[in-house]
Amino acid sequence: MISFSAIVLLWGTFDRFGSAYEVSVRQTPHVINVAEGANDNITCHFDIPDNTLVKMRVTWKKDNGTNVHFETMELRHSNTSSSVLQFHSLLRNQSGLYTCEVEIDIPKLWKGQGNGTYVIVTDGITVRQEPHNLQVSEGASVNMTCNFSIQTVRNYTMLANVTWIRIDDKRSKVHFERINSQLAASSSLQLPSMRLNDSGLYICEVDIVSPKLLKGKGNGTHIVVTDEHEYVGQLSDELIIVVFKVFKDIFLEIGCVKTISQLLIT
Ligand SMILES: *[C@@H]1O[C@H](CO)[C@@H](O)[C@H](O)[C@H]1NC(C)=O
Ligand SMILES: *[C@@H]1O[C@H](CO)[C@@H](O)[C@H](O)[C@H]1NC(C)=O
Ligand SMILES: *[C@@H]1O[C@H](CO)[C@@H](O)[C@H](O)[C@H]1NC(C)=O
Ligand SMILES: *[C@@H]1O[C@H](CO)[C@@H](O)[C@H](O)[C@H]1NC(C)=O
Ligand SMILES: *[C@@H]1O[C@H](CO)[C@@H](O)[C@H](O)[C@H]1NC(C)=O
Ligand SMILES: *[C@@H]1O[C@H](CO)[C@@H](O)[C@H](O)[C@H]1NC(C)=O
Ligand SMILES: *[C@@H]1O[C@H](CO)[C@@H](O)[C@H](O)[C@H]1NC(C)=O
Ligand SMILES: *[C@@H]1O[C@H](CO)[C@@H](O)[C@H](O)[C@H]1NC(C)=O
Ligand SMILES: *[C@@H]1O[C@H](CO)[C@@H](O)[C@H](O)[C@H]1NC(C)=O
Ligand SMILES: *[C@@H]1O[C@H](CO)[C@@H](O)[C@H](O)[C@H]1NC(C)=O
Ligand SMILES: *[C@@H]1O[C@H](CO)[C@@H](O)[C@H](O)[C@H]1NC(C)=O
Repeated sequence: MISFSAIVLLWGTFDRFGSAYEVSVRQTPHVINVAEGANDNITCHFDIPDNTLVKMRVTWKKDNGTNVHFETMELRHSNTSSSVLQFHSLLRNQSGLYTCEVEIDIPKLWKGQGNGTYVIVTDGITVRQEPHNLQVSEGASVNMTCNFSIQTVRNYTMLANVTWIRIDDKRSKVHFERINSQLAASSSLQLPSMRLNDSGLYICEVDIVSPKLLKGKGNGTHIVVTDEHEYVGQLSDELIIVVFKVFKDIFLEIGCVKTISQLLIT
C-alpha cells in the first residue's frame, strides 16, 4: 500500500509518464575483440542534464546481471561526463555484454542506461614479420624475421613449429624449425646468394603446439632480386603504376579495374 503523501512525493520525482527523467548515455566502442591476456578499456559517456545535480552513481553490469563495477561521482565541482571500465589481463570467461547504468537521485531522480559494449576475448597469437619489402642485387643475401607471441594470462612456455614458405606456383617449404621458449619468440630466415628466380613472397607460418593449438602467419616479405647491371626490374613496378593511373579512367569505363587491381596486388 502506498500512502497519498508517498504518491505526491513520487509525483515530484517522476515525470508524468511515470518513469524517471532520462539521462542520455552512450557507450564506446560497440564491440571490442581482444586477445586473452590483453588490457583494454570501455567507456560510458553521459550528458549531465542539470547543473544542480549533486551525485551520480554509475554501475557497470555484465550480461544484464552481475555488477562488475560501481562508482559514485561528485558532480557539483567537476565536469565529469564519462566512466571508464578498465580490464587487465582479460580472461575468456570475461566475454560478454557490459552495460553501464547511471542514476542520480538528488535533488530528483534521473536514470539512463547505455546500449552495451560486447567484449569478445579470443585466443591470441601475434605474428610480426619484417621487412615488408626487400630489393637486392643478384648474389646478395637476405634476412627476414618473424617475431611471434601468444597472449595468455598464465606463465607458460610454448612449443612452436615455424615454417617459412615461398609463395609461387606452388608453396615451397624453405625452412622449418621448432622453437621452445617463453611466450614470445623469434625466427629468422637468412638466404645467401639470391638468384633472380628466388624473387617472390616469403611467409612465415607459426603453429603453436602447446600450451594450446594456435595458428598464425606473418604478412610476408616481398623479395625482388635484380640483375646487377639492369634496372628494369626496379622500374617495372613504377611503370605499371603509372600506366595504371593513366588508364584508370578507361579501365573504369570498361569495368576492368577490379581485375587489374588484383593483378597488381598479387
Ligand atoms: C541504442 O539502441 C537504440 C535501439 O536499438 C537506438 O535507437 C539508439 O540510437 C541506440 N543508442 C546509441 C547511443 O547508440
Ligand atoms: C585505459 O585507461 C587508462 C587510464 O586512462 C590508461 O592509462 C590506459 O592506457 C588505457 N588502456 C588502454 C588499453 O587503452
Ligand atoms: C536487460 O534487462 C532489461 C531490464 O531488466 C530488459 O528489458 C532487457 O531485455 C535485458 N536485456 C538482456 C539482453 O537480457
Ligand atoms: C566546467 O565547464 C565549464 C564550461 O564548460 C567551465 O566554465 C568550468 O570551469 C568547468 N569546471 C571545471 C571544474 O572544470
Ligand atoms: C574465469 O576463469 C578463471 C580461470 O580461467 C577462474 O579463476 C574464474 O573464477 C572464472 N571466473 C568466472 C566468473 O567464472
Ligand atoms: C602487416 O601486418 C601489420 C601488423 O602486424 C599491419 O599493420 C599491416 O597492415 C599488414 N600489412 C599488410 C600489407 O597486410
Ligand atoms: C623482434 O624483436 C626484436 C627484439 O625483441 C626487435 O629488435 C625486432 O625489431 C623485432 N622485429 C619485429 C619484426 O618486430
Ligand atoms: C640476419 O640474421 C642473423 C641470424 O638471425 C642475425 O644474426 C643477423 O644480424 C641478421 N642480419 C641482418 C643484417 O639483419
Ligand atoms: C614465469 O616463469 C619463469 C620461469 O619459469 C620466471 O622466471 C618468471 O618470473 C615467471 N614470470 C611471471 C610473470 O610469473
Ligand atoms: C633458378 O635458377 C638457377 C640457375 O640460375 C637454377 O639452377 C635453379 O634450378 C632455378 N631454380 C628454380 C626454382 O627454378
Ligand atoms: C609440428 O611439427 C612436428 C614435426 O616436427 C609435427 O609432427 C607436428 O604435427 C607439428 N604440429 C603442428 C601443430 O603443426
